[in-house]
Formats: sequence, structure tokens, C-alpha cells
Amino acid sequence: MRRLLVTGGAGFIGANFVHHWLQHHAGDRVVVLDALTYAGNRNNLDPVRQRPELHFVQADIADTALVESLLRDERLDTIVHFAAESHVDRSIHGPDTFVQTNVIGTHSLLKAARKVWLEEKAVAQHRFHHVSTDEVYGSLSATDPAFTETTPYAPNSPYSATKAASDHLVRAYHHTYGLNVTTSNCSNNYGPYHFPEKLIPLMIVNLLQGKPLPVYGDGQNIRDWLHVSDHCRGIELVINNGVAGQVYNIGGGAEATNLTLINSMCSIVDAHFARDSALKSRFPNAPAAHGKPSTSLITYVKDRPGHDRRYAIDCRKIENELGYRAQTTLDTGLRATFAWYLANETWWRAVMDGSYRECISQQY
Ligand code: NAD
Ligand code: TYD
Repeated sequence: MRRLLVTGGAGFIGANFVHHWLQHHAGDRVVVLDALTYAGNRNNLDPVRQRPELHFVQADIADTALVESLLRDERLDTIVHFAAESHVDRSIHGPDTFVQTNVIGTHSLLKAARKVWLEEKAVAQHRFHHVSTDEVYGSLSATDPAFTETTPYAPNSPYSATKAASDHLVRAYHHTYGLNVTTSNCSNNYGPYHFPEKLIPLMIVNLLQGKPLPVYGDGQNIRDWLHVSDHCRGIELVINNGVAGQVYNIGGGAEATNLTLINSMCSIVDAHFARDSALKSRFPNAPAAHGKPSTSLITYVKDRPGHDRRYAIDCRKIENELGYRAQTTLDTGLRATFAWYLANETWWRAVMDGSYRECISQQY
């Protein structure tokens, strides 16, 4: 039985991970620590809120004393660290909070873990798992081989630079103090509970509301899409069987240009509207409600500064050493994600609160 501290466990990937863990490890204690920097994230834990194993604490990861008490009082033996400022576009407009949470906040957690686990020896065994990103490896050209765990770091955005810094601190706490750490670097996630400022959920809610689909630059940037359920299983494998001090890349094996992905999403929406006439009255502003192609909403906008051209993950290490396999193809995953947003309109309308609209209006 494990006793977990899941930082950022109310966020997109963290909440999916908490749902996954409680489903597959009934009886394990799960303490979620989240600052709720997006107020709407509170709703992401609704399906598991009544579970007696779950304890939610609204706090900042940089509150070292509070984290120490949680580790000590709850006898927690595993930290799964998701909490971060996570959106590249926000990091371009305001990098300070990224340095504060991603670097200082991660260091604060490491200090707390070192004190309680290594100095006080509060538990017999421990594991600090750090969730990072493929963006620390920089940008690939169309013909470059995919990122491996030994690709040199070359972060290009304030977001990826702060994630790179946190990766180095985690590594250093293993080599210097002997903290039992693992790190995973994953590609772009998508799926349920994804905040509609990222590409896929933004396209879905805009398609339904008849709003423009902003394509940055020429739309030929490539991302390697990973369904969040595959990511959660990958992290679970690393926590349970990964070797201390090791890094594991987790990918979806699904590279696509942004334009290809947006076109696929438009086709999925058109097909849904064609066979389900109730959608026309639910979403009267969608072009598909009037028989117009959803692609009519595609709008080219100014490119993101320093926009990385291509990310691609080589995940043979986690496949060969831990038996990981991505199970969700991009087509299946996009269909399932669209179906989830259709079934959870109340969720996405609730998370699109004032702070979200303010942020979007700064960007476009
Ligand atoms: P998210 O923004 O949806 O969730 C992050 C959560 O962290 C939020 O609930 C937020 O309230 C919380 N948080 C932020 N600052 C905090 C602080 N100071 N103290 C406590 N909680 C705080 O992000 P996500 O997409 O779920 O990403 C989770 C992790 O996965 C991040 O570390 C991110 O870098 C990494 N990652 C994400 C992706 C992706 O595609 N989404 C890809 C690679 C890596
Ligand atoms: P995003 O979801 O922000 O993830 P990341 O920047 O971490 O890869 O963006 C994915 C890709 O989609 C990226 O190449 C930027 C592009 N993009 C758009 O073209 N339009 C948009 O409105 C958004 C949010 C992203």
C-alpha cells in the first residue's frame, strides 16, 4: 500500500492520475495538494470527492513547512509532482510565476522530502516522482530523430526553461543527497478535463460555439500526441518499477501537424452533427448546425514567439524496461475526447471563468 502526495492533483493530468490511481489502487491514501490557480479545477475531482482515501489540501507547493507536516503527519511515502505553471503562451506574457512555482516550488518540495524522508527517516521507503515535459529538449527539424532520455537539454520558452531547471534540481537531489527520485518527460497530453486554452480543447469549444480556430503561423508545427490515460499508466509503471535516479520518456507515438489535427477534429464534428440532429439546437452557432464545413472557422493568426517546430518522443526505454505501450491511437483519442466534451458541457462552461477570458483576451 502506498501513501501518496499528488501535487497539482486538481489540474488536467493530475486529476486524471488521481482518478486512475483510486480506481486501480483502492485503499491507498491519496493526499492532493493544489493551489487551485484556476478556480474551476476544483470540479476536476468531483467524481472521486466522496472517496474516504482522498484528502484535498488547497495550498502552495512552496509552503515548505506545510508540506513537511503533511509528509510527517500522514506518513506519506510517495510524491507525484504535477504542480506547475503549464501553458507556454502564459509563460511568454508573464514568466515570473513560472520561475516561482516550477523552480522555487519544486525546490521547496525537494527540501521538505529531504528533511522528512532522509533526515528524520519518517518512512522506511520513499519515492519522489517528477513529471516533466519533452519541451526541455528543444525543437526538432522534420528529419531529426525523436528525443531520447540522453538528448541534450535546449529549452526555448520560459515554461520549458523552468521545467528544465526543476529537472536538474530533482537530479541533483538524487546524486547529492540520495533522494529516491524518478523523472518522466512526456509529449503533449490530451483528453478529459483539459483546460480550453490548450490546442485540442480550445478547438472543440470554439467549433461548438462557432468561434474562430486560431492557427499559429503556418500550422505545420508538429506535436506527438499522448492520451492522458496512457500517460497515467506510464507514470504508474515508473513509480512502481522505475529505477531510482532514472529518467523515462513517455510518448503517444502519434505525430501530427497542427493543421492535420485541426482538420481531423473538424471532420469528427461535422460527422457528429450530420448524424445527431439534437446537436443543431444545442449548438446553433456551430457552422455544422447549418451544414457548413467546420473548417470554415480556421483562422491563421500571428505565430507564437520562439514557437518550437516539432516535438517527437522516442519511448523505447520505458517500453523495453517497464513494458509500457501507448494504447490510444490519435483518431480514437480525438473521437473519445470530443464525446467527453459533448457530455460535459457544464464542466467546460464552468471552468471558462473570468480569469480565463482575461488571459485569452491578452493573447489574441
Ligand atoms: P494544469 O495547469 O492543468 O495543472 C497544474 C495544476 O498545478 C493546477 O491545478 C494548478 O492549480 C496547480 N498549481 C499551479 N501552481 C501551483 C502551486 N504553486 N502550488 C500548488 N499547486 C499549483 O497542467 P497539466 O497540463 O495538468 O500539467 C501537469 C504537469 O505535467 C506539469 O508539471 C506540466 O509541466 C507537465 N506536462 C504537461 C503536458 C501537457 O500536455 N499538458 C505535457 C508535458 C508535461
Ligand atoms: P499547446 O496546446 O499550447 O501546447 P504546447 O505549446 O505545449 O505544445 O499548443 C500545441 C500546438 O498548437 C503548438 O504548436 C501551438 C499550437 N496552437 C495553435 O496553433 N493555436 C492555438 O490556439 C493554440 C492554443 C495552440
